[in-house]
Amino acid sequence: MRIFFVTGNEAKFREASSVLKEFGIDLLIDKSHKKVEIQSDNLEDIVSNALQGICSDNVSDYYVVEDDGLFINRLNGFPGPYSSYVYKTIGLTGILKLMNDIDDRTAYFKSVVGLCGPKVGIKLFTGVVSGRIAMEPRGTEGFGFDPIFIPEGYDKTFAELGIGIKNRLSHRARAFKSLGNWLLNNL
Ligand code: IMP
Repeated sequence: MRIFFVTGNEAKFREASSVLKEFGIDLLIDKSHKKVEIQSDNLEDIVSNALQGICSDNVSDYYVVEDDGLFINRLNGFPGPYSSYVYKTIGLTGILKLMNDIDDRTAYFKSVVGLCGPKVGIKLFTGVVSGRIAMEPRGTEGFGFDPIFIPEGYDKTFAELGIGIKNRLSHRARAFKSLGNWLLNNL
């Protein structure tokens, strides 16, 4: 079966399509629909709202959208749902500065993937990966906060580990695996 991923982020698309391939699902990138993002502290609300815009008519295809963020425990979850804006404004250096005098560097990424399509309504799938914020950016692979995020059980950042290992443990991989399992069992 095939599913359309409404995203402008090619890196997210590559990660998600490699996960769904293992379930025999073809993921295609859809840049024609616009992912309308409401401002909210809640990833689930952002995703549900975006899907309502996409699947409001009688759609004949299945669509997914994803929203995610980096949640730093000692910053009370900041930047969370505002990760994209914070990445564009203060960036990795800004986050590292905020962490300057903080010993507890634990953080997690959370991904919410939403599916809509014929007779499905809206279904949400969540994935989380815990880890910590590195002392400085390291590595060249991936995107966004990958150079400063060290997943639990590793000493290297996602940007050093690369997509092969990232896709075994990331928030996105976990959310898309739940989606894959649900699709295999329900469609
Ligand atoms: P959005 O879901 O497109 O709004 O983006 C959330 C932001 O969180 C992205 O722009 C990235 O900066 C960050 N982010 C989300 N997932 C990842 C990831 O897997 N690695 C690194 N940064 C990420």
